[in-house]
Amino acid sequence: MSRIFDASWQRTNLCGKFTESDAGQEVRANGWVRARRDLGGIIFIEIWDWTGLIQIVFNPEAGEIHKLAASLRNEDCIAVKGKMRIRPEGTENPEIKTGNIEIVASDFLILSKSKPLPFEVGDATENVDENIRLKYRYLDMRREKMQYNMRTRAKINAFTRKFLGDRDFVELETPMLTKATPEGARDYLVPSRVNPGTFYALPQSPQLFKQILMISGFDRYYQIARCFRDEDLRADRQPEFTQIDIEMSYIVEEDIMKLIEDYMKGLFKEILNVEIPTPFLRLQYWDAMDKYGSDKPDLRINLELCDVAEAFKNSGFEPFKKILAAGGVVRGLRLPGGANLSRKEIMDLEARAIKLGLSGLANFLYKDGEIKGPLVKFLSSDEVNKVKELSGLEPGDAIFLAAHESRAKACEILGTLRLELGKKSEKFFNNSPNNWKFLWVTRFPLLEWNKDENRWEAMHHPFTSPVLDEDPYMMENDPANALARAYDCVLNGNEVGGGSIRIHDPEVQARVFKRLNITPEEAKRRFGFFLEALSYGTPPHGGLALGVDRLVMLLCGGNSIRDVMAFPKTQKAQCLLSGAPDEVEQARLDELKINVEVDE
Ligand code: AMO
Repeated sequence: MSRIFDASWQRTNLCGKFTESDAGQEVRANGWVRARRDLGGIIFIEIWDWTGLIQIVFNPEAGEIHKLAASLRNEDCIAVKGKMRIRPEGTENPEIKTGNIEIVASDFLILSKSKPLPFEVGDATENVDENIRLKYRYLDMRREKMQYNMRTRAKINAFTRKFLGDRDFVELETPMLTKATPEGARDYLVPSRVNPGTFYALPQSPQLFKQILMISGFDRYYQIARCFRDEDLRADRQPEFTQIDIEMSYIVEEDIMKLIEDYMKGLFKEILNVEIPTPFLRLQYWDAMDKYGSDKPDLRINLELCDVAEAFKNSGFEPFKKILAAGGVVRGLRLPGGANLSRKEIMDLEARAIKLGLSGLANFLYKDGEIKGPLVKFLSSDEVNKVKELSGLEPGDAIFLAAHESRAKACEILGTLRLELGKKSEKFFNNSPNNWKFLWVTRFPLLEWNKDENRWEAMHHPFTSPVLDEDPYMMENDPANALARAYDCVLNGNEVGGGSIRIHDPEVQARVFKRLNITPEEAKRRFGFFLEALSYGTPPHGGLALGVDRLVMLLCGGNSIRDVMAFPKTQKAQCLLSGAPDEVEQARLDELKINVEVDE
């Protein structure tokens, strides 16, 4: 009998797919050893593949192979031949799909031994230090949860291609070696050998190319596109990540939103068999900020902010009065039942708010029939009642107040507290696995003030159309209040996608560049190819990009996009498996005319 792996050793079924109907049959199984138990001379082994486990029994009568089986270690890769049988009564294992059957081995082959393992592979791997899991990613992925995540990712990609393909979207690839596209991060650069001293940029997104494809007549484009951004990493950010990148011609905002709503509805049905109600809620940016203190509000939390400025306008409390007089705001976060918080809890909350940028966090507690708090003595009873009225404060509640010159900052800080307080209590946070809260956040500010560089920056990217219908010259006249035709798709507090209607008129594009202090010369140098294309009859167009990694993470019930990427990078943008980034030989650098100086 052959002792090498040939067709005679090939599995007759996957480990987890054997059933009771195989009992009595000669079968073959291939997989990794997951557990070995020696019981009164009988050796039991479980072998694993992505479909599950099957138990193999080695009886002492089997002679040589029984002896060899005793030497098997976890993660050895083996092929087994034997007869399937129903397990003897009382030995069933209800925990696994194949718990009623087992293969009585007649022969087996060690295909490949495993070295001693850096960690136990299986459910417990979840608790192993992530850096070790990333170094041995191949072992980390040899377990059910990671297999589920990666296979779900593949299903999502397949669904995406089918959904968009069925709707006349053309899948087109755009270059990886390209010129910089501004998405707000640093570029990864690739030196050109044949053009010494010049560099390609890896794309931060296919933004300019997809717009050019609209000019080329592909009026519905998509790409499952890899993007590269050299930015600070977090649980939901990687230096290379994947977008479902979409662009359409002759559309308005509603067309994209409807398309994505249909897509999400279909996707959640396909992957989780849940019904997602559509259309999604739409909230303008400032409404989202005022109400939830975030441009990606988590609507699973039922706490809201309120505006209590009215109560302090003429009050005796100088700090608030001053902030209001300077155009600032006083906002509140009402916490139902919060009057019971301990002194320590309130102090911790204030410390947190100060860390986030407030000078203090005032509070009112509605306790024992009266409203108490450090500010009460500065206010008239009418003013105290005004706070109560504006916030809807009820007996037993607390309200926390943030005053700040910047409306956005006050809202953001209370928004962070809203999340942190909300997630602590089931009363405020419905964390059930199928509570999916989608919404669109629309009408973002067009511009953001960059304090360090003393200039306006595009909030989305410089190709986003300003809202032109009310005051077409808003960006010149009142830049802080100019709005963009931009929209984000938000799911449970995560920005899963973002996009906009673009500028298709070269004149408007020139005005935006001017507003951003980009001179015509600089615009020509950076985006000349694009501006040239824009001047040959550009259709109105718009689009969006969904973050695949975030979407897969949410659909798989995870907390980090690293868990849904086969080979992610660490916070320091390193691949612990391959050791990238790495130094290169001097000869390669010479060829590229690159001189490296590294501070010791
Ligand atoms: P934006 O920069 O908003 O828009 O990106 C779109 C979506 O991509 C995801 N995303 C990321 N995911 C993981 N790691 C990252 N570092 C990362 N950065 C972004 C997010 C985000 O919503 N060209 C525009 C789209 C357009 O206007 O059509 C763009 O890239 O889920």
